[in-house]
Formats: sequence, C-alpha cells, structure tokens
Amino acid sequence: MGVGEPWARYLRALGREPLPSALVDLDALEANVDRLLAPVVASGKRLRLATKSVRCPAVLERIASRAGETVIGLMTYTAGETAYYAGEGAAALGAASAIARDLLLAYPTVHPADAALLAEANRHAHAKVVVDELAQLAPLAAAARQAGTSIPVVIELDLGWRPLGRALHLGVRRSPLRSAGEVLALARAIAAEPSLRFAGLMGYEAQLAGLPDTAPTRAWQNPIKRALKRGSRPAVARARAEAIRALGAAGLAPELVNGGGTGSVAWSSGDETLSEITVGSGFLAGHLFDHYAELAHAPLSPALHFALQAVRRPAPRLITCHGGGFIASGATGEDRQPLPVGPPGCRLLAAEGAGEVQTPLALPAGVEVALGDPIFFRPAKSGELAEHFDEYLLVRGEHLEARAPTYRGLGRRFLG
Ligand SMILES: Cc1ncc(COP(=O)(O)O)c(C=O)c1O
Repeated sequence: MGVGEPWARYLRALGREPLPSALVDLDALEANVDRLLAPVVASGKRLRLATKSVRCPAVLERIASRAGETVIGLMTYTAGETAYYAGEGAAALGAASAIARDLLLAYPTVHPADAALLAEANRHAHAKVVVDELAQLAPLAAAARQAGTSIPVVIELDLGWRPLGRALHLGVRRSPLRSAGEVLALARAIAAEPSLRFAGLMGYEAQLAGLPDTAPTRAWQNPIKRALKRGSRPAVARARAEAIRALGAAGLAPELVNGGGTGSVAWSSGDETLSEITVGSGFLAGHLFDHYAELAHAPLSPALHFALQAVRRPAPRLITCHGGGFIASGATGEDRQPLPVGPPGCRLLAAEGAGEVQTPLALPAGVEVALGDPIFFRPAKSGELAEHFDEYLLVRGEHLEARAPTYRGLGRRFLG
C-alpha cells in the first residue's frame, strides 16, 4: 500500500463529518489482532486485553470477537473501570461480554472507596487486583469483609534488570518485590486473610514490552537498548520461575502468571513461566509501536488516526490546523507528539509542536491544502486519544462502517 493511499481512503470515509474526528481503520485493526494473536496461540497461552490501551468497549468487542477463546479477560486500570465491567459495562462489550467475567486490575489502590468497588465487583465477576506490599492488603480485606465477598489478589514481582546492582535499574518503578522470598512472604499474608484469596503472580517485563529500540529520535541509543534487552531476558525468565517454584513449594501455586506486552509479545509467549500474555497498544498501534525490533518482521498496521481542520495559511508552505495537542504520557519528548501522516510529508514545526488549539505544519513541495481540508495524524500512544473524543469512526476501506463511543462518550472518565 502506498504511503498516500490510506490517507486518501480516510478522506473519503470522513466525508462531511465534523472536525476534529478520530478514525479506527478496521482492516488494520483486524490485521493487528491476527498478528499479535499468532504467537500467543502458538504457545497455547491466553491473551488478556489491556483496556487502557483501547478505552472503547465496541473496539474491545471487535478485538475479542476476532481473537476468540484465546482471550481470557481484561486487564483494567482503575477500580472504577473494574466495577463498570463487572456491572453494566459488560453489555457494552456486546458479543464479547463474557470477557468481563475475568478482570485483573493491574495497578494497586489503597483507597477504601476503590476497595469497596472491588469487593462489590466480586459478586458478579472474578475481579482481581494487583498488590506488592502488606499495607495494601488491609483496605481490601476490610472492604471484602464488609461486603461479605472475597477479593482475589495477584502479587506483582519487579522484573527491572539491574546488571550493575542498584546503580542501574532498567525497567519501571512499581513493585518493590524483587525476590521469590519476598513474593512468598506476601502470598502467605494474603492466604492468612480470610476475605482475600491469593490468585497469582504478575511479572511485567516493561523494559522488553514498552521500550522502543529502533526509534528515529535518539537513534544512537537503539543498539544499547537492544543489547540491554538481550541481557535482561534470561533474568526476567529466571526471576519469574524462581517465584513460581517458591510459591508451589509452599502450597501456594499461582493460578495465573501474567506478563508481556505488545513490544514483547513473541518473546513473552515463548517464556514457559507465563500462563497469559497482556496485549493492548498493538491493536490500535500508536506510532511509538512502529519502533520495536521484535515487531519488525511483521510490522503492525496503523489503525488509529485523527483528523484536524486546516484553518490558516501563515506563509506559503505552511498551514495551521485547529487543535491537535494530544501529547502522550510518559517521559516527555518529541516522540510523544502526534505524527502527521496525511497528506504525506507534512511536518510539525520544532518551535511549536502540536498545540492545544493550533498546530502548524510545514507542507512538502507540490502538496496543496485548502482551508477546511482534513489533515490526518497518528497519536503516539493507543489509549489516550479516547480521552479527547466522544466517539471513534470505524472505517472499512473508504466507508464509514459504524460509530463507537469511547469511555468519554459513555460519560466514563476512569482516571478522573
Ligand atoms: C501491567 C502491564 N502489563 C502489560 C502492559 C502492556 O500493554 P500494552 O500492550 O498496551 O503495551 C502494560 C502497559 O503499560 C502494563 O502496565
């Protein structure tokens, strides 16, 4: 497919829709589902959908329906979202509503209101929550006692790689638990609490799954990142295996062992310690996921775009769009900006970037843009765009096939 071709299709599909609009390319989405599912199916593991990287129930339904029984459930990101899917949100998943019965909140919470939501959610679903220290257990246990339910709890093992001891930590800063012994001690505390149930282990290898290593910005770092990834893999597999062994020996064998992410889907699927692989970002394929060596042999297809209106012409080879500052979270840098893709060859200006209400672009030679024309961009990350749009236009070829409300369109803003 030529670079310009999707843009021309989106232009026709968009018709006279108001701008800005956000579009999901269904053919690209389905190609990504097939692409990401293949290694998981080949390994005989299950796939857990990371909702934060989608934030649109109808799109989750399409992913889950295509992936079929390999999908075990959802990885949620707040207690409110867990409660939503344990209740009315399951219906929003349409034909895939069964996946809302297995929920894993991957990020701890100690707020009593959240704990109450989780305790209540367990009346309708298996609503698990991740913990990594003793102090997180008390609010959960109290809420479960109060509700007369039991909360299944998953322990997160930190898999950051420290080749030089504490001087270098390659990975995310989440769980303090680094050893099998520490995991086992917490699992014992969970098992001793009648209103909690030890349900499993999560070991998220963020430095493999979420670190671009063929990126065009700071490209000199790419070989170093790839070397660090290579070095870290055996340590990741070993740490997970040791924790599983220690738990099993103590009669606390984990029901589930969750790990992986879009950027490590093949390697993580091949790691025998895991029972399930989480994937989210790769389905809509924000542009950060263009830059992973592990995905390079079968690149993901850009499936999420937004269109802005060209409203001004500040100089002959410049146009300025209305809106556009949808900057992705994380360590801020150029790579978190949206990427203009249509017309091909447009560039953000270094001095302004993508602005909240105005986004100027340099036009390539030979490209003319009329005032009112849509300009197409890709977001850096896959989930956060849904916080800026009430609905996604689901596009097939050059036709608008359906409209799908995002969490925002459904009146749900789980991150406040
Ligand atoms: C705990 C956990 N698992 C897995 C993932 C991978 O998700 P994705 O495929 O969206 O990168 C994430 C993403 O941040 C995560 O926080």
